[in-house]
Amino acid sequence: MMQKLVQKLDNAIADGTFIRAVCSGNFDKTVKKSVFTPSKRKNGYVIAEERFMPDGKALHSFCDPDKFAVYLSEISAGYKQTDVFCQDFTATVLRSKKGALHISFGQGKQMPETEKQEKNYILDPHKKYDFLVMLGVQDKNGRVYDKKQSKFRQINRFLEIVSDTVSSLPDNGMTVWDLCCGKSYLSFAVYYYFRRVLNKDITIYCVDRKEDVIKECAEYARQLGFDGMRFICGDIFKCLPDKPAELVLSLHACDIATDMVLSEAVKRGAKVILSSPCCQHELASQIKSPELNYILREPVLKQKLSVVITDALRCRLLYACGYKVTTLEFIDPEDTPKNLMIRAEKTYIPLKLRRAALDEYEMICKSLNAAPTMRALLDGFLNERIKGDMI
Ligand SMILES: C[S@@+](CC[C@H](N)C(=O)[O-])C[C@H]1O[C@@H](n2cnc3c(N)ncnc32)[C@H](O)[C@@H]1O
Repeated sequence: MMQKLVQKLDNAIADGTFIRAVCSGNFDKTVKKSVFTPSKRKNGYVIAEERFMPDGKALHSFCDPDKFAVYLSEISAGYKQTDVFCQDFTATVLRSKKGALHISFGQGKQMPETEKQEKNYILDPHKKYDFLVMLGVQDKNGRVYDKKQSKFRQINRFLEIVSDTVSSLPDNGMTVWDLCCGKSYLSFAVYYYFRRVLNKDITIYCVDRKEDVIKECAEYARQLGFDGMRFICGDIFKCLPDKPAELVLSLHACDIATDMVLSEAVKRGAKVILSSPCCQHELASQIKSPELNYILREPVLKQKLSVVITDALRCRLLYACGYKVTTLEFIDPEDTPKNLMIRAEKTYIPLKLRRAALDEYEMICKSLNAAPTMRALLDGFLNERIKGDMI
């Protein structure tokens, strides 16, 4: 059986369908677990090994892909369980302390977006970044802390989506907003990407109402020499500066704060909006519809439905305002269920289509007894632009 696993794993590595292997339950307790993932290098792939130690540290090393299957079969002897994930199969190796061995094979695992993307990560998980060390994502050796792994993936994935939009953005001198920035992980990463990777001049405004966090981030930016970062403490409903915004970002702005983010981005003519909403509560308290009662009478389903309708209506309104909109699940739901991203790019959409979208929007809201904040925030803008055909 082990020979069969080695053979299948060899094939998976050769055709690029190996996703991950995890060894856990070390018999002599010298290692907590070992995780193996394929990692892109200039001259091909290696298998990166992360050995998580009982003292919280992690040791990094690399294996030759050609020798990895045999290597894994050997070191798995020291662990109770080894799980292998490939696109075409999965395998679980179970061992007892006395050496009894059981191997079972299962169906393949779809490579999650995050794994596919890992090969093209903008921030290399094996490289040290001063801003990530300062923000407490990496330790001083550049290892991403265990509890920050999903944050790291989230930022990296967000950065990749930003990188896909670069051609729609001005070449230099751009203004970016990160609204409800919290600890500003994303702002620092975006700033690093534009200034240090692309060598473009940007100013990024980071806004949040948490005073201590904003103060701390401003100090980090000063120490890092990230002089194009500006920090504003306040409520985004009250304190946004009168500045244009070519790129507006928001990661998990709570409830109607996302409506404020989207409507302000539209009003200020943002070319690209990337927003991952969360805590969509507003509609759940408004929605009434006899046709949907079979769903609405179940509180959990009502909440889920409200979330979907909230974001769908936001997309419709963005379209009515002249944005091409796509929604994507930008990270693995195992990292966080809040993984929806609304991506909107300003484009030419004929007035007739925008009006039709707005009519449809109004009709849906009426049928649901809903009055979303985003619509109210955009009222003046829509009246002027859609009636006057100025978009
Ligand atoms: C879930 S956290 C997300 C933080 C950050 N974007 C991230 O993903 O790490 C939401 C943040 O939104 C901020 N926030 C919520 N409503 C706000 C408002 N109306 N004005 C300013 N900040 C707000 C909170 O203070 C909090 O830091």
